[in-house]
Order: sequence, then C-alpha cells, then structure tokens
Amino acid sequence: MTQSHPRISKAVIPAAGLGTRFLPATKATPKEMLPVVDKPAIQYVVEEAVSAGLDDVLMVTGRNKRPLEDHFDRNYELESALEKKGDGERLAKVRESSDLASIHYVRQGDPRGLGHAVLCAAPHVGHEPFAVLLGDDLIDPRDPLLARMVEIQEKCGGSVVALMEVAPEQIHLYGCAAVEPTDEGDVVRVTGLVEKPDAADAPSSYAIIGRYVLDPHIFDILRKTEPGRGGEIQLTDALQHLAEDEKVGGPVHGVVFKGRRYDTGDRGDYLRAIVRLACEREDLGPDFRTWLRSYVAEEMQQH
Ligand code: G1P
Repeated sequence: MTQSHPRISKAVIPAAGLGTRFLPATKATPKEMLPVVDKPAIQYVVEEAVSAGLDDVLMVTGRNKRPLEDHFDRNYELESALEKKGDGERLAKVRESSDLASIHYVRQGDPRGLGHAVLCAAPHVGHEPFAVLLGDDLIDPRDPLLARMVEIQEKCGGSVVALMEVAPEQIHLYGCAAVEPTDEGDVVRVTGLVEKPDAADAPSSYAIIGRYVLDPHIFDILRKTEPGRGGEIQLTDALQHLAEDEKVGGPVHGVVFKGRRYDTGDRGDYLRAIVRLACEREDLGPDFRTWLRSYVAEEMQQH
C-alpha cells in the first residue's frame, strides 16, 4: 500500500524528565546534558534525527533545562577565545551543536507523562507525520534505525514503533507489542500494545525502544487519553487506540531492531555505554582499551 505523504522532517525529543536516578549530578544539570564520553547524551539523539533527514527538532523541556538551549546555541565568547588561539579543532566542536539542526523548544509545564509531552508538540508539528526520539536510548549511528522507520511509514502510512526482543524479566520496563509478521523480515504489524506489563501478562517479548514515527491523529487520541500506568498519560495507550482501530490514523507497524542500542537512563547501563563507546573511538579507543585490559586483568587476579 503506497500513500502520498509530505516528507517527514520534524522530530520531537521529550526532555522534561527530572533525572532523579542520577542525583546529585542532575540537581542543577539536566540529565540530557550528562556526557557520554565527551558529548552530551542529547547531542547523539539530535545527530541521529538529522542523519535520518529530520532537521527540524522540537525539544519538550521543563524547568532547569536552560543548559540544553545554551548547548545548541552559539557561544560567541568561547568561539572568539578559541579563534584567537587558532584552535580550529575545538572551535569546530563548539560550533557543531549549534549548526546541527533547526531546534525549537516548548515547555511541558505539568509533568503528566510521555503522552502529555508529545501532545505539547501538537502546535509545532501540525498535520504531518513526525518522529519522537527518547533521550535515554542511544542508537549506534552505524545501525540506522530511524531512517528505516521513516521508510516504512512512507510506504505503509500510519505509525511505526521501534521494537527489540528482550528477556521476559525485562519486559516490565517497557511498552510491549502484540505483533503479526509481514512480508518484510524486519517489519511486523502491531495488533496491540500494553505499557510495562508483568512478564506473565506480556503479549510478546517485543519491547518498544524509544523511537516512534507517528501519524498526527495521535494528538486527537492523546487529548482524550486518561492517565494510565503510574497515573501518567501514556503514549503507549494512545498507540493502542491506533492499533485497534486503524480507520483513525492506523495502521501501526513495528521495525524490529537488532543493532546496537545503549541505554543511558540507568546508571549501570550508562557506564557500560560510555565504556563501549570509548573503546570504539578512534582517538581515545586504543589507549583506553589497553588500560581497560590491564584493569580487568588486575581485577581477575584479585577476585
Ligand atoms: C517509555 C515508554 C515505554 C518505552 C520506553 C522506552 O518509558 O513509556 O513504552 O518502552 O520509554 O525506553 P520510560 O522508560 O520513559 O519509563
């Protein structure tokens, strides 16, 4: 089924969370600004949107989030100091984030959940399909997931979620999808969705990872969606409506991701993400891997 759509160009990044899992680091600094190696987590996410062709980015922020705006803005003082020193390499790094995309901001006001954060994007998005990227999930740029999701949305219409198979004891941390196969190996038809089910009630082992391409009908549904799990307005619940009644903005498909994903929302996973990414960096990797090997060897001798 091929439908004609405007090219998807808008990405929404909810960034209003309090980041309590990282206190005290997040007392005065947004969690999105925590460095993953030497770049704030949020910059990876914006880069991912841009490399999938989405260069209009709306961040849904809250109180304490001004550093996000500063990061994606020019910093003339720093730029002129680096210019005077002739430090072109660092100057390029400073300018990289402000030249990336056209970035807009809206405040969420009351933190009423992910569905509510997405609804705050309605005036900016208008009537086009759009992407949502959650900052806690980093997708390796070598495994381009979002571009594939955009492709499937352009082919099938409706909405597309990113899915990943997880172990049964992990499913309660995610939205979970009931699925049917399609002709394309990496694409499934989503027939139902449930937010953070107990393992015993989960309809499958497919977890929603934080990437969505959504039909704008989602806004009408979100306006009517009652608070669900955790007393919050859940995006998963609104998507469930799209999946069960595809006359209103459906269908919902899932792209099954088998690539590299780093979770930066939890302290342990955040540390693992940093170690993995640092090991793979051309500039830092060789020295860091040498140190890591000897550190692990020492650890193994002691325990
Ligand atoms: C959110 C969504 C959930 C999804 C997850 C992916 O939950 O509500 O459906 O599986 O992101 O990271 P959160 O992790 O924000 O609680």
